[in-house]
Amino acid sequence: MTDANLHVQRREAVDNALRIMRAAVGTASTLEASVARIVEEQILGLAQRSELWDLKDFPIQAGQRWGVWEVSEDADGRFAVYASAAHPGHAQPPHNHTTWACIAGVSGTEVNRFYQRIEGDGTPGPARLLQSGQRDIGKGAVVLLGPDDIHDIEIVGPSDAMHLHVYGLGFSHLHRRMRYDMSAARCEYFPVFTDIPKL
Ligand SMILES: [Fe+2]
Repeated sequence: MTDANLHVQRREAVDNALRIMRAAVGTASTLEASVARIVEEQILGLAQRSELWDLKDFPIQAGQRWGVWEVSEDADGRFAVYASAAHPGHAQPPHNHTTWACIAGVSGTEVNRFYQRIEGDGTPGPARLLQSGQRDIGKGAVVLLGPDDIHDIEIVGPSDAMHLHVYGLGFSHLHRRMRYDMSAARCEYFPVFTDIPKL
């Protein structure tokens, strides 16, 4: 496939999935189970078009463990789609999203651990978490998180990983996310991700 064809096919696939997701989600900020299933199906369907998300088309910069590209975001910041490429060892500490978030695997394995907060009120300060579950998100797997759900991620080898992330609201709008430091038993605001390249 030429680069131009690839771009067009990717755009069409993403736009079709977004059309269905927008109709199902409406203005909801928390997804009920039937809507969550529709979102999961659409993102999984996109992820299964692996020719659209080949790691060679998403080169991670030298010296980095992770690269993320904005595939789409609505004018109001909603329905943000990201392609996330990572080397084994890339990890993010426990955090929430303050919006719904759905992750589907294209290739490689992203371990997701889920946590419950057992101390603290979700604002910066002392906080303790207890792990409540774990899932490996690889090819064909999908996970949907609510605005208050807390998870961490870690890419485990041997292969690089590609995952699609779809958020109810894009990264640049998420100013109140919390990031947890398990060893210090504290949490703080997660710095806002900015300057994400557009695909
Ligand atoms: Fe996350």
